Amino acid sequence: MKVLAIYGSPRKDGNTAKMMDAALAEFPKEAEIKRLYLADLNFSGCGPCRECKTTGYCVVDDDMQQVFKDMLWAEIILFGSPSQFGDVSVDIKKLMERTWWMKGALRNKIGGYVITGRRYIESTINTLHAFMLRHRMILGGSGALGYTFTEMGGLEYDPLALRDAHFTGRRLVELYYLVYGDMKP
Ligand SMILES: Cc1cc2nc3c(=O)[nH]c(=O)nc-3n(C[C@H](O)[C@H](O)[C@H](O)COP(=O)(O)O)c2cc1C
Repeated sequence: MKVLAIYGSPRKDGNTAKMMDAALAEFPKEAEIKRLYLADLNFSGCGPCRECKTTGYCVVDDDMQQVFKDMLWAEIILFGSPSQFGDVSVDIKKLMERTWWMKGALRNKIGGYVITGRRYIESTINTLHAFMLRHRMILGGSGALGYTFTEMGGLEYDPLALRDAHFTGRRLVELYYLVYGDMKP
């Protein structure tokens, strides 16, 4: 079970990270989990080149190249994003744009997400759903929305947030076994 956990908040140990960790705690011991903190990486959004239309892959030479490899490797991709001005974080959005060339490459990978924030989070959810459906991923999870304010640790005021994050992790594991059955341990 290959799991790529994409931490999309600028704060590596903030509310979103806590939700991610709660979801990941549900994966079995044998799962290989790669944690990727976008805040550590240097990369741009999609530029004007359109090179991928002819080459079939993204030619922009930055840290996103390794992220592409990790995404291709993964069987389950879990995103974590704060709601920022009613949408995913800038880093998550840049990552999404850069996958434009990956047509079909993410098909049938299992995808889920956790989100933190309290206002306008509907459009944050919508962006994540659109991304996964556009890539023909299998959308999983169970609505893990942490009701948070801006301070660090604000998550503790939402008694259901971490529980829901655990539910999301559990659902992704369930989908994995549904998809792969006995083919994989
Ligand atoms: C630039 C910026 C924009 C934000 N916009 C929103 C927003 O539209 N809705 C919301 O509920 N929270 C918003 N917030 C608050 C964050 O979503 C919230 O504090 C979140 O839990 C932060 O996650 P973190 O602890 O992982 O950094 C915003 C925060 C920042 C820094």
